[in-house]
Amino acid sequence: MNGRANGHVTNTTQSYDVIIVGAGISGVNAGYRMQTTLPNSSYTILEGRADLGGTWNLFKYPGIRSDSDLHTFGFPFNPWTKENPIATGESICTYMKETASKFGIDQHFQFKHKVVSADWSSDAQLWRLEVDNEGTRKIFYAKFIIMGTGYYSYEKPLKAHIPGLEKFKGTTVHPQFWPEDLDYKGKKMVVIGSGATAITLLPALVEGGVGHVTMLQRSPSYVMSQPQRKTGVVNFYERFLPTWISLRITRIRFLVLPYLFYLFCRRWPDKARALLMGEAQKQLPKDFPMDPHFTPTYNPWDQRLCLCPDGDFFKCFANGRAQVVTSTIDTVTSDSILLSNGEKLDADIIVTATGLNLQFCGNISLSVDKQPVAVPSRFMWRATMLSGVPNLFLIIGYVNASWTLGADSASRLLTRLMGFMAKNKYTSATPRISEEEAKEKRLPLNLTSTYVKSGVGNMPHAGAKAPWLPRDNYMRDSWFADRGDLRLGLEFVGKSS
Ligand SMILES: Cc1cc2nc3c(=O)[nH]c(=O)nc-3n(C[C@H](O)[C@H](O)[C@H](O)COP(=O)(O)OP(=O)(O)OC[C@H]3O[C@@H](n4cnc5c(N)ncnc54)[C@H](O)[C@@H]3O)c2cc1C
Ligand SMILES: *[C@@H]1O[C@H](CO)[C@@H](O)[C@H](O)[C@H]1NC(C)=O
Ligand SMILES: *[C@@H]1O[C@H](CO)[C@@H](O)[C@H](O)[C@H]1NC(C)=O
Ligand SMILES: *[C@@H]1O[C@H](CO)[C@@H](O)[C@H](O)[C@H]1NC(C)=O
Ligand SMILES: *[C@@H]1O[C@H](CO)[C@@H](O)[C@H](O)[C@H]1NC(C)=O
Repeated sequence: MNGRANGHVTNTTQSYDVIIVGAGISGVNAGYRMQTTLPNSSYTILEGRADLGGTWNLFKYPGIRSDSDLHTFGFPFNPWTKENPIATGESICTYMKETASKFGIDQHFQFKHKVVSADWSSDAQLWRLEVDNEGTRKIFYAKFIIMGTGYYSYEKPLKAHIPGLEKFKGTTVHPQFWPEDLDYKGKKMVVIGSGATAITLLPALVEGGVGHVTMLQRSPSYVMSQPQRKTGVVNFYERFLPTWISLRITRIRFLVLPYLFYLFCRRWPDKARALLMGEAQKQLPKDFPMDPHFTPTYNPWDQRLCLCPDGDFFKCFANGRAQVVTSTIDTVTSDSILLSNGEKLDADIIVTATGLNLQFCGNISLSVDKQPVAVPSRFMWRATMLSGVPNLFLIIGYVNASWTLGADSASRLLTRLMGFMAKNKYTSATPRISEEEAKEKRLPLNLTSTYVKSGVGNMPHAGAKAPWLPRDNYMRDSWFADRGDLRLGLEFVGKSS
């Protein structure tokens, strides 16, 4: 198969060196790394949906936007050139489309191709995939699979345990399935949750003419304002440096400053807390009660810090059409929510912004020589491969920095590994963990937010020592991707054996 840009195609089967599953940020990025690092290998990107974008194509709720800056969330090989660091879902999709066509990655997409199962054959040293293409079953073969399938289920949202919700006669909406024709103008809404989604929704709903909206949170989160750049304002270095250097400096600034802030939060949690709360108070209406609505019980960065552009979240409380309530739900009635503090919230629409249903490997049933692989029982080698599973890469990014930074380190690592294998005439690499090493388990995504806690059972493990450690920080992971020793923890099979 080598030496062919396009895979081998017959009516019923297709063969490639590499199959990438998913056309989200991770899949597109992996496609770029494939074609630049291994230009002689054939690859295709199988995407279950009708379009690219992944997360940014799926979520349609009002105001949907990143809460990372696009200078680091964007692709390192095609820097974000717009002025606003925080971008809308739509502009992220456009940017992804432009990137895919600029580098010819779009030639490799096959949409409406949902991978159902994948079985590794040790005899053939190949993966065999069953793919559903609008009801037609197709078979694909590949030497390697790269899972750019994200980390949550697209079909099944996290079940929110809200007592009495079934009695509610109004409209219940999950942000993952926002009806695009939902009319909330003049209506009373309650948004349950305090994460990034709720914080994005509130100002957007106020702007969109909601009658009144309550953000109902069980416990508060940290929210930080991210100043958006005013049009026409230029950084001093942009005045005299060529654009590509300026873009690089901007990227480095956005890499380093948040990292320093992260270290500051870890080292001096009390000071960080005071700083975040002080900044919030400045932007909230006068006399807004900070306690309990903006006084989290955890330390900054124990959970992902929510960013809001130009403090829009704080400012939306000014005209009295938005409020925040910190309490727990006693029960939902046909037209209201009764709280344990005795309060009653009337509602026409309830939004359950309570999180994602964690899922890895896109609900594909995986097997090795027909033996089923339960993903959550496996350990992750360098946060990119699963123990006991040959030639399969699973891309997970960072949760305390832009996802893409981690996804790109993973892609650089796995393409280098493929090159290394080709050079040594290895046909497969399988991570092997010893019983001793498997004794101590860690989380590959280390955050304590509710949805991560409730989804722990769906996640593979990380270990306490290299090469099983969770992703660390970008500088170190990036160094390892380009220069680290590839052999530790891997078992190789060569051509002759
Ligand atoms: C509302 C929201 C906001 C977020 N904001 C940020 C942010 O600001 N910064 C940040 O760093 N992270 C953010 N995240 C996390 C975000 O999901 C990741 O940053 C990033 O978009 C993930 O990209 P991905 O390509 O890995 O996965 P996804 O975007 O989830 O894409 C996975 C793709 O794989 C496809 N797929 C899955 N299974 C199969 C299958 N079996 N067969 C074929 N195709 C399949 C899916 O259809 C999808 O297109 C956010 C997440 C959400 C939900
Ligand atoms: C790809 O193939 C061409 C022609 O066979 C060869 O000259 C080139 O070195 C190969 N590139 C890589 C990266 O292997
Ligand atoms: C996974 O796929 C199976 C069918 O193969 C389906 O029954 C199940 O609901 C899916 N699970 C999720 C979480 O999407
Ligand atoms: C998460 O990270 C903290 C330090 O940042 C560490 O103390 C803790 O053990 C980690 N938890 C898991 C489950 O890996
Ligand atoms: C993210 O958290 C890990 C520990 O959980 C830490 O080692 C790393 O430095 C953090 N990275 C950033 C960019 O904040």
